[in-house]
Amino acid sequence: MSTTLAAVPSRSPWLHRLHGGDPYEGFDAAAYPLDLQGWNGTHPLLVEIVQKVRPEVVVEVGSWKGQSAVTFARELQRLGPGRTLLCVDTWLGGLEHWRERTRPDFFPSLRVRHGYPGLYWQFLANIVHSGVQDVVVPFPNTSLNAARWLLHEQVRADVVYIDASHEENDVFADLTYYWQVARPGGIVFGDDLGWPGVRAAVDRFVQQQGVQVGVRDNLWVLQKPSV
Ligand SMILES: C[S@@+](CC[C@H](N)C(=O)[O-])C[C@H]1O[C@@H](n2cnc3c(N)ncnc32)[C@H](O)[C@@H]1O
Repeated sequence: MSTTLAAVPSRSPWLHRLHGGDPYEGFDAAAYPLDLQGWNGTHPLLVEIVQKVRPEVVVEVGSWKGQSAVTFARELQRLGPGRTLLCVDTWLGGLEHWRERTRPDFFPSLRVRHGYPGLYWQFLANIVHSGVQDVVVPFPNTSLNAARWLLHEQVRADVVYIDASHEENDVFADLTYYWQVARPGGIVFGDDLGWPGVRAAVDRFVQQQGVQVGVRDNLWVLQKPSV
């Protein structure tokens, strides 16, 4: 079975708005067999939030190989056409992926070749193998640059999922920027509350904003006030 784009044309207008073309076009996904290794990316809360909010635009900050992206995208597809999942990632790995050399899901998963990670190609292939390239728009950049672009373009997301760097100041900066990207009443949530840096940043942010944090397992959830 062919897994190239030809069978499933991309439809999100964001592909052209961001890339000026279709990044899936001509990509040989068959060269990268499906590998949806990730961490907590199939948690039922991801599905429940999409079902509840019925978002048109979801921004995921930190996508890795696409496990959580595929979970979101499948649910967005179920809601009907015209919905977009913007996946923001450098696809260069976080600090922990460069630090931890032996765990196969950390440094080895970056697939460094000639000194540069090949993670992005695995992500793109996984999106194609999963048949969700009509929804998923990759945004290969730092979380803050992507946020600046989204704000410049006046994008307002219904849902933002933050799962990029786990260092306190990075997470706090992601929260600060993507809080602005989220529409009033929108949901900003993320993974890994068990990481000390994530916990400290979320605690600091909710105190600063005077909002409540919901917690389920290792996930944290904030709702931006409606006005
Ligand atoms: C924990 S993984 C994401 C896992 C993914 N959400 C899943 O469930 O499958 C973190 C990702 O964030 C990315 N990342 C880390 N710091 C970043 C930054 N400052 N800007 C953009 N991406 C970043 C890494 O490249 C990595 O792919």
